[in-house]
Amino acid sequence: MADWSTIEALPQERLETLFANDPDRLKRLSLDVAGIHFDWSKTHLTADALTAFEALAKSVDLAGKREAMFAGANVNVTEDRPVEHTAERGEGKAESVARAASYHARMRGLIDAIEAEAFGPVRSILHVGIGGSALGPHLLVDALGRGSDRYDVAIVSNVDGMALDDVFDDFDPETTLLVVASKTFTTTETMMNAESVIQWMTGAGVEDPYGRVIALTASPEKAIEWGVDETRILPFSEGVGGRYSLWSSIGFPAAIALGWDQFEELLEGAAEMDRHFRLAALHENAPAIAAFADLYYTQVRHAETRAPFAYDERLRLLPSYLQQLEMESNGKGVTVDGQPVGRPTAPITWGGVGTDAQHAVFQLLHQGTHLVPVEFLAVIEAGDTLPAEHHRQLLLNAFAQGAALMTGKQVDDPARSYPGDRPSSTLLLDRLDARTLGALIAFYEHRVFVNGVLLGINSFDQFGVELGKEMAKAAAKGGGDFDASTADLIRRAFGE
Ligand code: F6P
Repeated sequence: MADWSTIEALPQERLETLFANDPDRLKRLSLDVAGIHFDWSKTHLTADALTAFEALAKSVDLAGKREAMFAGANVNVTEDRPVEHTAERGEGKAESVARAASYHARMRGLIDAIEAEAFGPVRSILHVGIGGSALGPHLLVDALGRGSDRYDVAIVSNVDGMALDDVFDDFDPETTLLVVASKTFTTTETMMNAESVIQWMTGAGVEDPYGRVIALTASPEKAIEWGVDETRILPFSEGVGGRYSLWSSIGFPAAIALGWDQFEELLEGAAEMDRHFRLAALHENAPAIAAFADLYYTQVRHAETRAPFAYDERLRLLPSYLQQLEMESNGKGVTVDGQPVGRPTAPITWGGVGTDAQHAVFQLLHQGTHLVPVEFLAVIEAGDTLPAEHHRQLLLNAFAQGAALMTGKQVDDPARSYPGDRPSSTLLLDRLDARTLGALIAFYEHRVFVNGVLLGINSFDQFGVELGKEMAKAAAKGGGDFDASTADLIRRAFGE
C-alpha cells in the first residue's frame, strides 16, 4: 500500500506565492508533447510535490505496471485479461499489434467496398451503440467531421425511441447502412435499437435489411446469431475495453466519414503519446504529471470533482467522453487485492464548453465553497470562418478565467470578493486535427492508468454497472423482488 504521508505533509502555499518563490515554476510545470502545450503551473504542484509523487510511483512500481500493460500481461486482474488498446495504435505486444493491424485492414477493405458502391449508393451511416461503443466515435465525428460531406452520420445510443425517431425523419432507409456497435453484442439498448432500425427498413420496403448491417464487436459469434453476415463483421479484441475502443473497429463511423488517412493519423497521434508515456521521466511525463495533480487534489485537498472546459465547439463532447473514461475506470471501492481502498478514488468529472459555462456555472468556481480543479482546453488555430476576433475572444476568455481563479480579488465588500488560489491547468493545442486529437485522448487514457496504479485499483473492469442492468431485465420480464417505492413506480407507469 502506498505511503501518502510525505505528500500529505507538503506545505500548502498560495499559488501566487509559489510563482513568486520559484522563477522556474512555469518551465518546471509545463511541457510540449505531440502538438499539445500542457501548463500545470496554476496548480499547487511544486518541485517537492513532483519528487514526492515520483517516490510514491516508485513504491508501487508504476514503471513495472506500465511495462506490464504494454507487454500484454493480464493487468485487468479481475477479468484475467490483458489491456490491448495501445496495440491498436501499434504500441504493445507484437502478437496483439499484428492482430489489431489485420482487423484494421479488414475494416479498411470494407470501407473501400462501401465506397465502390458494393452496397449500392450509401449516403448515411446509422451507428447504434452505447457507452464506449458510442461516446468515442461520436466525439471523433463531431470534432473532426465538420464540413465533411462524405456521409451523413448519426450516432444513436439512448433506448428512448425519440433518439431514433429523429434519425428516421432525416435518413432514407434505401441509402442507409446500419452499424451495430457492441463489444458484447448483448447490450439491451443497442439490440433493441438495432431491431427497430431493421423494422424501419423492412417497413420502407428495403429488400434485404440484414444485408445492410455492419457489426463492430468482440463477439462475432453473437453478431452472426443475430443475423449479420460474417463478411460484414468487423471484430476487435476482447482485451480492448469499451471506453478504450475508439481506436478499434468501433471507430468505423469516424474512419468512413473522415477517410482512412485521417483514421491512421489519429492512431499515429495516439502512438506518439504512448511512446512519450512509456519513455519520459515521470517529472516530464504529461499523463503522470496530470495524474499527480488529480491525486494531490483528491487525496490532500479533498476535492470531490474536477471540471474540464473545452473552449472550442469541436471539443464539446469531450467532457462526456471523459466522464465515462475517468469515472467508469477509476470509480472503484476496492483495490486489486479486493481490499477496501480506504481513500477517495476517481473524482466526479463534470465540465462544459467555454465561454457558455462562464455565464452559468463559473460563479461556483470563483466564489463557492467547493474546491474544483479546472482544466481549460483551447486550440490556437481557429476552426471557424468568422473574423479572427471571435477566436481571439474565445482564447482570451479561457486564459483570463485561469488567471482570475488564481489571483482572486479582495475588496471591502465580502460579496464582491474573490478568494483566489483556485487551481487550473491548461491544455493548449496547436491545431485540432486527427493526429493531435489522437494524442489528446491517449493522454487522458494514460492519466487514468497512473491514477489507478497509485490508488491500487483496477481501472479496467466495470462491475458496478451490472446490478442495475440485471434488475431492469428482471422488471422487463415482469419479475424482480422490488422495494415498495420501486414497485409503486412500476405500477403507476404500467398499471402492473
Ligand atoms: O454498461 C456499461 C458498459 O458495459 C460499458 O462499459 C460499455 O462501454 C457499454 O456498456 C456498452 O457495452 P457494449 O459495447 O458491450 O454494448
